[in-house]
Amino acid sequence: MTDKYVAAIDQGTTSSRCIIFDQDGAIVAVDQREHRQIFPKPGWVEHDASEIWSKVQAVVAGALASAGLRAEQLSAVGITNQRETTVLWDRSTGKPVHNAIVWQDTRTSALCTELGGTDGQDRFRDRTGLPLASYFAGPKVAWLLDNVPGLRQRATHGEIAFGTIDSWLIWNLTGGTEGGRHVTDVTNASRTMLMNLESLEWDQSVLDAMNVPAAVLPEIRSSSEVYGTATGQLAGVPVASALGDQQAAVFGQTCYGVGEAKNTYGTGSFLLLNTGNRPVASKSGLLTTMGYRLGGEAPVYCLEGSIAITGALVQWFRDQLGIISEASEIETLAASVDDNGGAYIVPAFSGLFAPYWRSDARGVVTGLTRYVTKAHLARAVLEATSWQTREVVDAMYQDSGVRITTLKVDGGMTANGLLMQHQADVLGVPVIRPVVSETTCLGAAYAAGLATGVWSDLDELRSHWKRDAEWSPRMTADARESEYRNWRKAVERSFGWHE
Ligand code: G3P
Repeated sequence: MTDKYVAAIDQGTTSSRCIIFDQDGAIVAVDQREHRQIFPKPGWVEHDASEIWSKVQAVVAGALASAGLRAEQLSAVGITNQRETTVLWDRSTGKPVHNAIVWQDTRTSALCTELGGTDGQDRFRDRTGLPLASYFAGPKVAWLLDNVPGLRQRATHGEIAFGTIDSWLIWNLTGGTEGGRHVTDVTNASRTMLMNLESLEWDQSVLDAMNVPAAVLPEIRSSSEVYGTATGQLAGVPVASALGDQQAAVFGQTCYGVGEAKNTYGTGSFLLLNTGNRPVASKSGLLTTMGYRLGGEAPVYCLEGSIAITGALVQWFRDQLGIISEASEIETLAASVDDNGGAYIVPAFSGLFAPYWRSDARGVVTGLTRYVTKAHLARAVLEATSWQTREVVDAMYQDSGVRITTLKVDGGMTANGLLMQHQADVLGVPVIRPVVSETTCLGAAYAAGLATGVWSDLDELRSHWKRDAEWSPRMTADARESEYRNWRKAVERSFGWHE
Protein backbone atom coordinates (compact mmCIF):
# COMPACT_ATOMS: atom_id res chain seq x y z
CA MET A 1 0.00 0.00 0.00
CA THR A 2 1.32 3.46 -0.85
CA ASP A 3 1.44 5.83 2.12
CA LYS A 4 -1.03 8.64 1.93
CA TYR A 5 -0.38 12.13 3.27
CA VAL A 6 -2.64 15.07 3.96
CA ALA A 7 -1.45 18.65 4.53
CA ALA A 8 -3.26 21.09 6.79
CA ILE A 9 -2.72 24.83 6.71
CA ASP A 10 -3.58 26.56 10.00
CA GLN A 11 -3.65 30.30 9.49
CA GLY A 12 -3.84 31.61 13.06
CA THR A 13 -3.92 35.01 14.74
CA THR A 14 -0.19 35.24 15.32
CA SER A 15 1.29 32.68 12.94
CA SER A 16 0.68 30.34 10.03
CA ARG A 17 1.49 26.67 10.18
CA CYS A 18 1.54 23.80 7.79
CA ILE A 19 1.47 20.27 9.20
CA ILE A 20 1.65 17.13 7.10
CA PHE A 21 -0.05 14.03 8.57
CA ASP A 22 0.23 10.40 7.59
CA GLN A 23 -2.65 7.98 7.39
CA ASP A 24 -2.49 7.19 11.12
CA GLY A 25 -3.03 10.87 11.89
CA ALA A 26 0.60 11.18 13.07
CA ILE A 27 2.62 14.30 12.36
CA VAL A 28 5.24 13.92 9.61
CA ALA A 29 6.42 17.53 9.32
CA VAL A 30 5.64 21.00 10.66
CA ASP A 31 6.59 24.48 9.57
CA GLN A 32 5.47 27.73 11.21
CA ARG A 33 5.98 31.46 10.67
CA GLU A 34 4.71 34.51 12.50
CA HIS A 35 3.25 37.55 10.78
CA ARG A 36 3.05 41.19 11.88
CA GLN A 37 0.44 42.43 14.34
CA ILE A 38 -0.55 45.96 13.34
CA PHE A 39 -2.04 48.19 16.08
CA PRO A 40 -2.97 51.54 14.42
CA LYS A 41 -4.90 52.83 17.49
CA PRO A 42 -5.87 51.51 20.93
CA GLY A 43 -8.33 48.66 20.37
CA TRP A 44 -7.57 48.33 16.65
CA VAL A 45 -5.81 45.19 15.37
CA GLU A 46 -4.96 44.56 11.72
CA HIS A 47 -3.09 42.02 9.59
CA ASP A 48 -1.66 42.37 6.10
CA ALA A 49 -3.53 39.68 4.13
CA SER A 50 -0.85 39.64 1.40
CA GLU A 51 1.81 38.98 4.04
CA ILE A 52 -0.37 36.17 5.41
CA TRP A 53 -0.62 34.59 1.94
CA SER A 54 3.20 34.78 1.53
CA LYS A 55 3.74 33.18 4.95
CA VAL A 56 1.29 30.42 4.08
CA GLN A 57 3.20 29.68 0.88
CA ALA A 58 6.45 29.65 2.85
CA VAL A 59 5.20 27.20 5.49
CA VAL A 60 3.78 24.88 2.85
CA ALA A 61 7.19 24.83 1.13
CA GLY A 62 8.91 24.36 4.50
CA ALA A 63 6.71 21.45 5.57
CA LEU A 64 7.06 19.67 2.21
CA ALA A 65 10.85 20.10 2.38
CA SER A 66 11.15 18.79 5.90
CA ALA A 67 8.90 15.83 5.12
CA GLY A 68 10.93 15.13 1.97
CA LEU A 69 7.68 15.01 -0.03
CA ARG A 70 6.59 16.49 -3.33
CA ALA A 71 3.19 18.16 -3.73
CA GLU A 72 1.90 15.30 -5.90
CA GLN A 73 2.37 12.93 -2.97
CA LEU A 74 -0.33 14.78 -1.01
CA SER A 75 -3.84 13.34 -1.23
CA ALA A 76 -5.43 16.61 -0.15
CA VAL A 77 -4.89 19.92 1.57
CA GLY A 78 -7.23 21.27 4.23
CA ILE A 79 -7.60 24.78 5.62
CA THR A 80 -8.25 25.96 9.13
CA ASN A 81 -8.05 29.56 10.20
CA GLN A 82 -8.45 32.34 12.73
CA ARG A 83 -12.14 33.12 12.44
CA GLU A 84 -13.99 36.43 11.89
CA THR A 85 -10.90 38.27 10.61
CA THR A 86 -12.16 40.13 7.57
CA VAL A 87 -10.51 40.64 4.19
CA LEU A 88 -11.88 42.60 1.24
CA TRP A 89 -9.99 42.32 -2.03
CA ASP A 90 -10.21 43.48 -5.60
CA ARG A 91 -11.34 40.59 -7.78
CA SER A 92 -9.38 41.78 -10.82
CA THR A 93 -6.00 42.53 -9.20
CA GLY A 94 -6.22 40.03 -6.34
CA LYS A 95 -4.95 42.72 -3.93
CA PRO A 96 -6.58 43.46 -0.57
CA VAL A 97 -8.17 46.92 -0.51
CA HIS A 98 -7.30 47.48 3.17
CA ASN A 99 -5.51 45.63 5.94
CA ALA A 100 -7.55 42.74 7.28
CA ILE A 101 -9.53 43.72 10.39
CA VAL A 102 -8.75 41.13 13.04
CA TRP A 103 -11.36 39.45 15.26
CA GLN A 104 -9.90 41.20 18.33
CA ASP A 105 -10.42 44.67 16.84
CA THR A 106 -13.01 46.80 18.67
CA ARG A 107 -13.51 49.63 16.12
CA THR A 108 -17.06 48.47 15.33
CA SER A 109 -18.32 48.67 18.95
CA ALA A 110 -20.28 51.88 18.34
CA LEU A 111 -21.63 50.53 15.05
CA CYS A 112 -22.82 47.40 16.87
CA THR A 113 -24.65 49.50 19.48
CA GLU A 114 -26.26 51.49 16.67
CA LEU A 115 -27.27 48.31 14.82
CA GLY A 116 -28.86 46.94 17.99
CA GLY A 117 -31.12 50.01 18.22
CA THR A 118 -34.07 49.47 20.52
CA ASP A 119 -33.77 45.67 20.17
CA GLY A 120 -30.32 45.71 21.73
CA GLN A 121 -27.46 43.26 21.50
CA ASP A 122 -29.62 40.26 20.66
CA ARG A 123 -31.31 41.77 17.58
CA PHE A 124 -29.93 39.08 15.22
CA ARG A 125 -29.43 36.26 17.70
CA ASP A 126 -32.49 34.25 16.60
CA ARG A 127 -31.15 34.05 13.03
CA THR A 128 -27.38 34.00 13.54
CA GLY A 129 -26.86 32.60 17.06
CA LEU A 130 -24.65 35.59 17.92
CA PRO A 131 -24.94 38.76 19.99
CA LEU A 132 -24.03 42.04 18.31
CA ALA A 133 -20.35 42.48 19.17
CA SER A 134 -17.28 43.88 17.47
CA TYR A 135 -15.88 40.31 17.36
CA PHE A 136 -17.85 39.21 14.29
CA ALA A 137 -17.14 39.82 10.62
CA GLY A 138 -20.36 41.41 9.31
CA PRO A 139 -19.96 44.78 11.07
CA LYS A 140 -16.28 44.82 10.02
CA VAL A 141 -17.37 44.49 6.37
CA ALA A 142 -19.86 47.33 6.87
CA TRP A 143 -17.17 49.48 8.49
CA LEU A 144 -14.77 48.95 5.56
CA LEU A 145 -17.46 49.70 2.97
CA ASP A 146 -18.28 52.93 4.81
CA ASN A 147 -14.72 54.05 5.49
CA VAL A 148 -12.61 53.15 2.45
CA PRO A 149 -13.36 55.86 -0.15
CA GLY A 150 -15.29 54.57 -3.17
CA LEU A 151 -15.41 51.01 -1.87
CA ARG A 152 -19.15 50.66 -1.42
CA GLN A 153 -19.81 51.56 -5.03
CA ARG A 154 -17.18 49.14 -6.32
CA ALA A 155 -18.54 46.43 -4.03
CA THR A 156 -22.09 46.92 -5.30
CA HIS A 157 -20.77 46.58 -8.87
CA GLY A 158 -19.28 43.18 -8.04
CA GLU A 159 -15.63 44.30 -8.19
CA ILE A 160 -14.85 43.44 -4.57
CA ALA A 161 -14.76 40.08 -2.80
CA PHE A 162 -15.23 39.56 0.94
CA GLY A 163 -13.81 36.61 2.76
CA THR A 164 -12.75 35.39 6.14
CA ILE A 165 -9.21 34.01 5.99
CA ASP A 166 -10.38 30.58 4.70
CA SER A 167 -11.93 32.24 1.63
CA TRP A 168 -8.87 34.37 1.02
CA LEU A 169 -6.59 31.32 1.13
CA ILE A 170 -8.83 29.05 -0.96
CA TRP A 171 -9.20 31.78 -3.59
CA ASN A 172 -5.43 32.21 -3.77
CA LEU A 173 -4.66 28.48 -3.62
CA THR A 174 -7.06 27.70 -6.47
CA GLY A 175 -5.70 30.28 -8.87
CA GLY A 176 -6.56 33.76 -7.53
CA THR A 177 -7.30 36.12 -10.45
CA GLU A 178 -6.96 33.09 -12.77
CA GLY A 179 -10.20 31.37 -11.76
CA GLY A 180 -9.80 31.15 -7.97
CA ARG A 181 -12.84 29.73 -6.14
CA HIS A 182 -14.69 32.23 -3.97
CA VAL A 183 -16.15 29.97 -1.27
CA THR A 184 -16.36 29.64 2.49
CA ASP A 185 -17.56 26.83 4.73
CA VAL A 186 -20.49 26.81 7.12
CA THR A 187 -18.32 27.14 10.23
CA ASN A 188 -16.59 30.28 9.03
CA ALA A 189 -19.82 31.67 7.60
CA SER A 190 -21.47 31.17 11.00
CA ARG A 191 -19.01 33.73 12.45
CA THR A 192 -19.87 36.50 10.03
CA MET A 193 -23.24 37.23 11.65
CA LEU A 194 -24.61 37.21 8.13
CA MET A 195 -25.55 33.51 7.81
CA ASN A 196 -28.87 32.07 8.87
CA LEU A 197 -28.21 29.11 11.16
CA GLU A 198 -31.26 27.15 9.99
CA SER A 199 -31.02 27.61 6.21
CA LEU A 200 -27.19 27.80 6.15
CA GLU A 201 -27.51 30.59 3.57
CA TRP A 202 -26.79 34.30 3.76
CA ASP A 203 -29.68 35.98 5.57
CA GLN A 204 -31.11 38.79 3.45
CA SER A 205 -32.72 40.54 6.43
CA VAL A 206 -29.36 40.80 8.20
CA LEU A 207 -27.54 41.83 5.01
CA ASP A 208 -30.09 44.61 4.57
CA ALA A 209 -29.78 45.77 8.17
CA MET A 210 -25.99 45.88 7.95
CA ASN A 211 -26.05 47.29 4.41
CA VAL A 212 -23.75 44.58 3.05
CA PRO A 213 -24.27 43.90 -0.69
CA ALA A 214 -24.69 40.22 -1.63
CA ALA A 215 -22.26 40.81 -4.54
CA VAL A 216 -19.26 40.63 -2.16
CA LEU A 217 -20.15 37.31 -0.55
CA PRO A 218 -18.56 33.90 -1.13
CA GLU A 219 -20.62 30.76 -1.76
CA ILE A 220 -21.29 28.80 1.45
CA ARG A 221 -20.19 25.15 1.20
CA SER A 222 -19.76 22.26 3.61
CA SER A 223 -16.57 21.86 5.70
CA SER A 224 -15.45 18.68 3.92
CA GLU A 225 -15.62 18.56 0.12
CA VAL A 226 -13.35 19.36 -2.81
CA TYR A 227 -13.70 23.11 -3.45
CA GLY A 228 -11.19 23.09 -6.30
CA THR A 229 -7.70 22.01 -7.30
CA ALA A 230 -4.67 23.94 -6.15
CA THR A 231 -2.36 25.68 -8.58
CA GLY A 232 1.19 26.90 -7.98
CA GLN A 233 3.34 25.05 -5.45
CA LEU A 234 0.51 22.61 -4.63
CA ALA A 235 -0.56 22.18 -8.28
CA GLY A 236 -2.99 19.32 -8.68
CA VAL A 237 -3.74 18.80 -4.96
CA PRO A 238 -7.47 18.88 -4.07
CA VAL A 239 -8.37 21.67 -1.64
CA ALA A 240 -10.80 19.61 0.37
CA SER A 241 -11.69 21.15 3.72
CA ALA A 242 -12.20 24.41 5.53
CA LEU A 243 -13.12 24.88 9.17
CA GLY A 244 -12.70 27.75 11.57
CA ASP A 245 -9.83 26.84 13.88
CA GLN A 246 -12.00 26.13 16.91
CA GLN A 247 -14.35 23.92 14.96
CA ALA A 248 -11.34 22.16 13.44
CA ALA A 249 -10.18 21.42 16.98
CA VAL A 250 -13.60 19.91 17.80
CA PHE A 251 -13.15 17.70 14.76
CA GLY A 252 -9.53 16.82 15.54
CA GLN A 253 -10.41 16.01 19.16
CA THR A 254 -13.07 13.66 17.72
CA CYS A 255 -15.89 15.31 19.68
CA TYR A 256 -18.44 13.71 17.35
CA GLY A 257 -21.08 12.86 19.96
CA VAL A 258 -23.64 15.13 21.59
CA GLY A 259 -22.25 16.38 24.91
CA GLU A 260 -18.56 16.07 23.95
CA ALA A 261 -16.53 19.23 24.54
CA LYS A 262 -13.01 20.57 24.03
CA ASN A 263 -11.13 23.68 25.07
CA THR A 264 -8.34 25.08 22.88
CA TYR A 265 -5.80 27.41 24.47
CA GLY A 266 -4.32 29.76 21.87
CA THR A 267 -4.29 33.56 21.63
CA GLY A 268 -7.69 33.26 23.22
CA SER A 269 -9.48 30.14 24.44
CA PHE A 270 -12.56 28.62 22.94
CA LEU A 271 -14.64 25.92 24.58
CA LEU A 272 -17.07 24.18 22.25
CA LEU A 273 -19.75 21.64 23.16
CA ASN A 274 -21.30 19.43 20.47
CA THR A 275 -25.10 19.86 20.69
CA GLY A 276 -26.01 17.66 17.70
CA ASN A 277 -28.04 18.43 14.58
CA ARG A 278 -30.10 21.29 15.97
CA PRO A 279 -28.93 24.72 17.10
CA VAL A 280 -29.39 25.30 20.85
CA ALA A 281 -30.17 28.90 21.81
CA SER A 282 -28.07 30.35 24.62
CA LYS A 283 -29.46 32.36 27.52
CA SER A 284 -26.16 32.52 29.37
CA GLY A 285 -23.86 34.46 27.07
CA LEU A 286 -22.64 31.64 24.85
CA LEU A 287 -22.69 31.55 21.06
CA THR A 288 -24.72 29.15 18.97
CA THR A 289 -22.43 28.18 16.14
CA MET A 290 -21.72 25.53 13.53
CA GLY A 291 -19.59 22.57 14.57
CA TYR A 292 -18.99 21.11 11.12
CA ARG A 293 -20.81 19.76 8.10
CA LEU A 294 -19.41 16.85 6.12
CA GLY A 295 -20.50 17.15 2.47
CA GLY A 296 -24.27 16.70 2.21
CA GLU A 297 -24.66 15.19 5.70
CA ALA A 298 -26.71 16.84 8.44
CA PRO A 299 -24.91 19.81 9.98
CA VAL A 300 -23.57 19.56 13.53
CA TYR A 301 -24.01 22.54 15.86
CA CYS A 302 -22.11 23.66 18.95
CA LEU A 303 -22.45 25.98 21.88
CA GLU A 304 -19.29 28.03 22.24
CA GLY A 305 -17.72 29.98 25.06
CA SER A 306 -15.27 32.39 23.42
CA ILE A 307 -12.57 33.96 25.59
CA ALA A 308 -10.68 36.69 23.75
CA ILE A 309 -7.43 36.81 25.70
CA THR A 310 -5.60 33.90 27.32
CA GLY A 311 -2.28 33.08 25.58
CA ALA A 312 -2.18 36.70 24.41
CA LEU A 313 -1.91 37.75 28.07
CA VAL A 314 1.32 35.74 28.35
CA GLN A 315 2.56 37.48 25.19
CA TRP A 316 1.67 40.85 26.67
CA PHE A 317 3.51 39.95 29.90
CA ARG A 318 6.54 39.06 27.77
CA ASP A 319 6.48 41.76 25.06
CA GLN A 320 4.80 44.78 26.64
CA LEU A 321 6.01 44.37 30.24
CA GLY A 322 9.25 42.50 29.48
CA ILE A 323 9.00 40.48 32.72
CA ILE A 324 9.93 37.27 30.89
CA SER A 325 11.78 36.85 27.62
CA GLU A 326 10.27 33.54 26.46
CA ALA A 327 6.64 32.51 26.94
CA SER A 328 7.77 29.20 28.42
CA GLU A 329 9.52 31.04 31.32
CA ILE A 330 6.18 31.94 32.84
CA GLU A 331 5.70 28.47 34.28
CA THR A 332 9.01 28.51 36.16
CA LEU A 333 8.40 32.04 37.45
CA ALA A 334 4.85 31.21 38.55
CA ALA A 335 5.97 27.96 40.18
CA SER A 336 8.46 29.88 42.37
CA VAL A 337 5.56 30.99 44.61
CA ASP A 338 2.72 29.02 46.17
CA ASP A 339 -0.16 31.23 45.14
CA ASN A 340 -1.14 34.51 43.46
CA GLY A 341 -0.43 36.59 46.59
CA GLY A 342 -3.96 38.00 46.36
CA ALA A 343 -3.55 39.41 42.81
CA TYR A 344 -5.98 38.83 39.94
CA ILE A 345 -5.61 40.02 36.35
CA VAL A 346 -8.68 40.38 34.16
CA PRO A 347 -7.35 40.69 30.59
CA ALA A 348 -10.28 42.58 29.07
CA PHE A 349 -8.05 43.97 26.30
CA SER A 350 -10.79 43.65 23.66
CA GLY A 351 -13.64 44.09 26.11
CA LEU A 352 -14.86 40.81 27.61
CA PHE A 353 -16.33 38.09 25.44
CA ALA A 354 -18.28 35.12 26.86
CA PRO A 355 -20.25 35.08 29.00
CA TYR A 356 -20.37 38.90 29.42
CA TRP A 357 -20.07 40.45 25.94
CA ARG A 358 -19.03 43.80 27.44
CA SER A 359 -17.21 46.04 24.99
CA ASP A 360 -16.89 48.67 27.74
CA ALA A 361 -14.61 46.40 29.80
CA ARG A 362 -10.87 47.00 29.95
CA GLY A 363 -8.09 45.10 31.67
CA VAL A 364 -7.57 45.42 35.43
CA VAL A 365 -5.16 44.11 38.05
CA THR A 366 -6.69 43.82 41.51
CA GLY A 367 -5.49 42.87 44.97
CA LEU A 368 -2.10 44.61 44.74
CA THR A 369 -0.11 45.09 47.94
CA ARG A 370 3.63 45.57 48.43
CA TYR A 371 3.82 41.84 49.06
CA VAL A 372 3.01 41.06 45.41
CA THR A 373 6.01 40.15 43.23
CA LYS A 374 6.38 39.47 39.53
CA ALA A 375 6.08 35.77 40.36
CA HIS A 376 2.62 36.32 41.88
CA LEU A 377 1.65 38.28 38.77
CA ALA A 378 2.90 35.42 36.59
CA ARG A 379 0.56 33.15 38.52
CA ALA A 380 -2.29 35.62 38.11
CA VAL A 381 -1.62 35.67 34.35
CA LEU A 382 -2.01 31.90 34.15
CA GLU A 383 -4.97 31.80 36.52
CA ALA A 384 -6.83 34.33 34.35
CA THR A 385 -7.06 31.60 31.74
CA SER A 386 -8.49 28.97 34.06
CA TRP A 387 -10.97 31.31 35.75
CA GLN A 388 -12.29 32.58 32.44
CA THR A 389 -12.71 28.95 31.37
CA ARG A 390 -14.57 28.19 34.58
CA GLU A 391 -17.07 30.96 33.81
CA VAL A 392 -17.70 29.52 30.38
CA VAL A 393 -18.15 25.99 31.75
CA ASP A 394 -20.74 27.31 34.23
CA ALA A 395 -22.60 29.01 31.37
CA MET A 396 -22.54 25.74 29.36
CA TYR A 397 -24.19 23.97 32.24
CA GLN A 398 -26.87 26.65 32.59
CA ASP A 399 -27.67 26.51 28.86
CA SER A 400 -27.47 22.81 28.14
CA GLY A 401 -27.91 21.09 31.49
CA VAL A 402 -24.81 19.07 30.53
CA ARG A 403 -22.24 18.97 33.32
CA ILE A 404 -18.90 18.06 31.83
CA THR A 405 -17.19 15.20 33.59
CA THR A 406 -13.79 15.67 31.92
CA LEU A 407 -12.37 18.39 29.70
CA LYS A 408 -10.39 17.56 26.54
CA VAL A 409 -7.77 20.26 26.01
CA ASP A 410 -5.36 21.24 23.27
CA GLY A 411 -3.32 24.17 21.97
CA GLY A 412 0.01 25.72 22.92
CA MET A 413 -0.76 26.54 26.55
CA THR A 414 -1.51 22.90 27.38
CA ALA A 415 2.27 22.41 27.55
CA ASN A 416 2.07 24.40 30.80
CA GLY A 417 1.51 21.81 33.52
CA LEU A 418 0.97 24.39 36.26
CA LEU A 419 -1.86 25.96 34.27
CA MET A 420 -3.43 22.60 33.45
CA GLN A 421 -3.35 21.63 37.14
CA HIS A 422 -5.00 24.91 38.08
CA GLN A 423 -7.59 24.35 35.35
CA ALA A 424 -8.49 20.95 36.80
CA ASP A 425 -8.56 22.51 40.29
CA VAL A 426 -10.97 25.32 39.45
CA LEU A 427 -13.28 23.13 37.36
CA GLY A 428 -13.22 20.23 39.80
CA VAL A 429 -12.95 17.72 36.92
CA PRO A 430 -10.00 15.99 35.22
CA VAL A 431 -8.35 17.73 32.28
CA ILE A 432 -7.08 15.46 29.48
CA ARG A 433 -4.61 16.22 26.71
CA PRO A 434 -4.29 13.93 23.66
CA VAL A 435 -0.98 12.78 22.14
CA VAL A 436 -1.52 14.96 19.07
CA SER A 437 -2.23 18.30 20.71
CA GLU A 438 -2.16 20.01 17.27
CA THR A 439 -5.83 19.20 16.98
CA THR A 440 -6.66 22.25 14.88
CA CYS A 441 -4.49 21.09 12.00
CA LEU A 442 -5.48 17.51 12.62
CA GLY A 443 -9.18 18.37 12.30
CA ALA A 444 -8.61 20.17 8.99
CA ALA A 445 -6.56 17.22 7.74
CA TYR A 446 -9.25 14.75 8.85
CA ALA A 447 -12.00 16.68 7.05
CA ALA A 448 -9.88 16.93 3.88
CA GLY A 449 -8.94 13.25 4.07
CA LEU A 450 -12.57 12.18 4.53
CA ALA A 451 -13.54 14.11 1.40
CA THR A 452 -10.82 12.40 -0.66
CA GLY A 453 -11.02 8.82 0.62
CA VAL A 454 -7.90 8.83 2.82
CA TRP A 455 -10.10 7.89 5.79
CA SER A 456 -13.44 6.19 5.55
CA ASP A 457 -15.49 7.37 8.52
CA LEU A 458 -15.59 9.01 11.94
CA ASP A 459 -14.98 5.70 13.76
CA GLU A 460 -11.65 5.35 11.99
CA LEU A 461 -10.70 8.89 13.06
CA ARG A 462 -11.79 8.18 16.63
CA SER A 463 -9.47 5.19 16.76
CA HIS A 464 -6.49 7.55 16.33
CA TRP A 465 -7.26 9.57 19.50
CA LYS A 466 -4.85 8.68 22.33
CA ARG A 467 -4.47 10.18 25.80
CA ASP A 468 -1.11 11.77 26.59
CA ALA A 469 -1.55 13.47 29.99
CA GLU A 470 -4.25 13.93 32.61
CA TRP A 471 -4.52 16.35 35.56
CA SER A 472 -6.91 15.60 38.42
CA PRO A 473 -8.36 18.24 40.73
CA ARG A 474 -6.57 18.74 44.05
CA MET A 475 -8.04 22.00 45.38
CA THR A 476 -10.67 21.77 48.11
CA ALA A 477 -14.18 22.85 47.17
CA ASP A 478 -14.04 25.66 49.78
CA ALA A 479 -10.82 27.12 48.39
CA ARG A 480 -12.16 26.87 44.86
CA GLU A 481 -15.35 28.77 45.63
CA SER A 482 -13.69 31.47 47.72
CA GLU A 483 -11.08 32.17 45.02
CA TYR A 484 -13.83 32.15 42.40
CA ARG A 485 -15.61 34.90 44.35
CA ASN A 486 -12.42 36.99 44.27
CA TRP A 487 -12.15 36.46 40.54
CA ARG A 488 -15.77 37.58 40.02
CA LYS A 489 -15.11 40.72 42.06
CA ALA A 490 -12.12 41.50 39.86
CA VAL A 491 -14.24 41.00 36.73
CA GLU A 492 -16.78 43.53 38.01
CA ARG A 493 -13.96 46.07 38.38
CA SER A 494 -13.19 45.74 34.64
CA PHE A 495 -16.58 47.11 33.50
CA GLY A 496 -17.31 50.66 32.43
CA TRP A 497 -13.94 51.93 31.22
CA HIS A 498 -14.82 52.54 27.61
CA GLU A 499 -17.87 53.73 25.68
O1 G3P B 1 -12.37 33.40 16.94
C1 G3P B 1 -11.00 33.67 16.95
C2 G3P B 1 -10.20 32.39 16.88
O2 G3P B 1 -10.58 31.65 15.78
C3 G3P B 1 -8.72 32.70 16.94
O3 G3P B 1 -8.00 31.58 17.21
O4 G3P B 1 -6.01 30.27 17.73
O5 G3P B 1 -5.82 32.15 16.11
O6 G3P B 1 -6.15 32.59 18.52
P1 G3P B 1 -6.38 31.65 17.42
